[in-house]
Amino acid sequence: MTVRINPSILSADFVNMQADLERIANADFVHVDVMDNHFVPNLTFGPQMVRRIQDVSPVPLDIHLMISDADRTAPEYAEIGAASVTFHAEAAENPITLARRLREIGSRAGIALKPGTPIEPYLEHLDEFDQILIMTVEPGFGGQSFMADMMPKLATLSAEAKRRGSNVWLQVDGGIAESTIAQAAEAGADTFVAGSAIYGADSPALAIDALRDLAAAHRH
Ligand code: DX5
Ligand code: ZN
Repeated sequence: MTVRINPSILSADFVNMQADLERIANADFVHVDVMDNHFVPNLTFGPQMVRRIQDVSPVPLDIHLMISDADRTAPEYAEIGAASVTFHAEAAENPITLARRLREIGSRAGIALKPGTPIEPYLEHLDEFDQILIMTVEPGFGGQSFMADMMPKLATLSAEAKRRGSNVWLQVDGGIAESTIAQAAEAGADTFVAGSAIYGADSPALAIDALRDLAAAHRH
């Protein structure tokens, strides 16, 4: 069973970004958290930095936009040529139109749901998205505790995706570590973001391999 491990550079050293990207060359994608100090109470970087990250990254970009007014702001990140752009459902007026636009530009289109946002309205639109991100923390900061109470939401989504024969990737983000990844894999996730668990390890590359093995062993 294919699983993807996407390290979050929110936990990397921002002034040694190129070196920290090279430490995760065995990852599937690099997860890039864009925060605007408005949609979330934290600020990271914008398109200029993301473009440079893409120039030097050994793996493709999985951009997680935690920014307001996604209908207007998200396409710019697809224009950079990013492999995947995920916006928040809570920040978009018209998620389906936006997802279509991102695909048209050439990126995979993802939609993210905060812990309090229900999945049900999106179940009949799974084909409009390439990835659905179920947040397992409140977005904004790394190093928070995994919310196991999101597993029923993920399982509902996974069951519906299977029923429809959908190819959508199911991503989890927040508190993913060796102690939590099995639960998320069992509930149906196939794409795992981890920041502190990877960059906090002595060897990020070994941490990626360990997470990948655990996730693969618990997928069914
Ligand atoms: C949080 C970000 C995450 C964050 C995860 O808002 O979306 O990607 O980096 O960090 P950890 O894995 O430390 O919970
Ligand atoms: Zn993220």
